[in-house]
Amino acid sequence: MSITAVIFDLDGVIVSTDEFHFQAWKRLADEAGIVFTRHDNEALRGVSRAESLEIILAKSKRLWSQDEKNRMMETKNTYYRDSLQTLSPQDILPGVMRILKELKQAGVAIAIGSSSKNTPLILQKIGLASAFDAVADGNDIQKSKPDPEVFLLAAQRLGKSPAECLVVEDAEAGLMAARSGGMRVLGVGGAAASALADLSAPTLATMEVQTLLKGDLDAEEAVGLPAMS
Ligand code: BG6
Ligand code: MG
Repeated sequence: MSITAVIFDLDGVIVSTDEFHFQAWKRLADEAGIVFTRHDNEALRGVSRAESLEIILAKSKRLWSQDEKNRMMETKNTYYRDSLQTLSPQDILPGVMRILKELKQAGVAIAIGSSSKNTPLILQKIGLASAFDAVADGNDIQKSKPDPEVFLLAAQRLGKSPAECLVVEDAEAGLMAARSGGMRVLGVGGAAASALADLSAPTLATMEVQTLLKGDLDAEEAVGLPAMS
């Protein structure tokens, strides 16, 4: 089935907020006396705030009450939102604006599918608040990636079936979510080498819309597993 909709992850795909997430978690972990490295941070990509905290606290020697966890999530989010204040359209990652424009010209529907509850603020800061035909984010869902809920909701809001959708993701949890939702997926950045990607590119700057709409690579170029459809 041909691709008539593209669902973009936000953090690490449209804008490089992943460093801000890391710095905010790092500050929180330091204050709590928990060792938290860039390597540890890789496991947090794409997963919800609550699950990210659980991953960090699993490295701690003590148990934390739900009240303490709630306060920690609030503190982390305050640090994170402070750093988002400097965000502007200049922070949109290379290739994104061209691809969005070309997809629109080709009549392809575009949506955001993000685990982040800060999605509305980020889209407003980078000037893309009304650029998408649909937005599904952390405020709308019960289950975060790797569950497909956020992508299925985005597809539903676009009026598209999963088989018509291609997801663009930079996180392994997001690739898993797309595939278990029955969607094809383009892996970018850290996810470009993933065996779960139907298509891959180090950055969107080198991705042609024509290739993206094809949905998978020629067999000899394919990375890892064969395409799902
Ligand atoms: C995802 C990020 O997009 O959103 C994760 O990749 C983050 O790192 C998650 O934990 C939730 O974000 P927020 O903004 O709701 O804390
Ligand atoms: Mg991401």
